[in-house]
Amino acid sequence: MFIILPERSKDREFIETLLDDVFGANRQHKASYAYRDKNPPVQGLSLTAHCNERLVGTIRFWPIFLGPRKTPALLLGPLGVASDMQNFGIGRSLISQGHMMAAEMGYKLVLLVGEEAYYGRFGYVSASSHGLSMEGENPTRLMVCELGKGTLKEASGNVQAGDCPRIGVKGSGFAYQANC
Ligand SMILES: CC(C)(COP(=O)(O)OP(=O)(O)OC[C@H]1O[C@@H](n2cnc3c(N)ncnc32)[C@H](O)[C@@H]1OP(=O)(O)O)[C@@H](O)C(=O)NCCC(=O)NCCS
Repeated sequence: MFIILPERSKDREFIETLLDDVFGANRQHKASYAYRDKNPPVQGLSLTAHCNERLVGTIRFWPIFLGPRKTPALLLGPLGVASDMQNFGIGRSLISQGHMMAAEMGYKLVLLVGEEAYYGRFGYVSASSHGLSMEGENPTRLMVCELGKGTLKEASGNVQAGDCPRIGVKGSGFAYQANC
């Protein structure tokens, strides 16, 4: 069984260790990390998965905006699940819960750098085929998901970091539990 909870400050050390384990210690050199340097993640949207009180999964979302219209969006990542806990639905639950909360906050678009083979099942499609790009990143790995129908056609251009407006941040009083 695992439980999904809002990230707490005491989780941070365990999150860094988990991410180093699954992505390698040089993960911070990836282009997408540059978009996370200038801002903290969106408050209330950083989630963790725990199994027997051990942290086994993490997801965060970062504020970005897109192109000259400065369309507000989210950058998902990193999403990581402990090696011995993969394929039990933890990644799926973290994404579903994160998407649901992001939509409740009013966010309409989520981008990420990852593989379509995994993220396609959650509604992610090629971002470059919709005129979106991220400097320094392989365009085939940039994916986008619409949380609000019809919003993708209004967005185009380069991903930009910045202090884009945070939309309707809510409290984080929830817990989600599932068997694994
Ligand atoms: C990718 C990751 C977040 C998925 O989380 P998870 O909890 O293991 O995955 P879930 O249980 O939600 O989903 C399992 C399904 O995803 C598939 N899957 C897992 N990783 C995948 C990948 N890298 N590519 C394609 N499919 C993948 C599994 O084969 C399984 O498919 P099935 O449902 O058809 O059997 C996790 O495995 C992880 O942290 N991996 C290390 C980091 C990594 O490889 N990232 C690259 C992904 S872009």
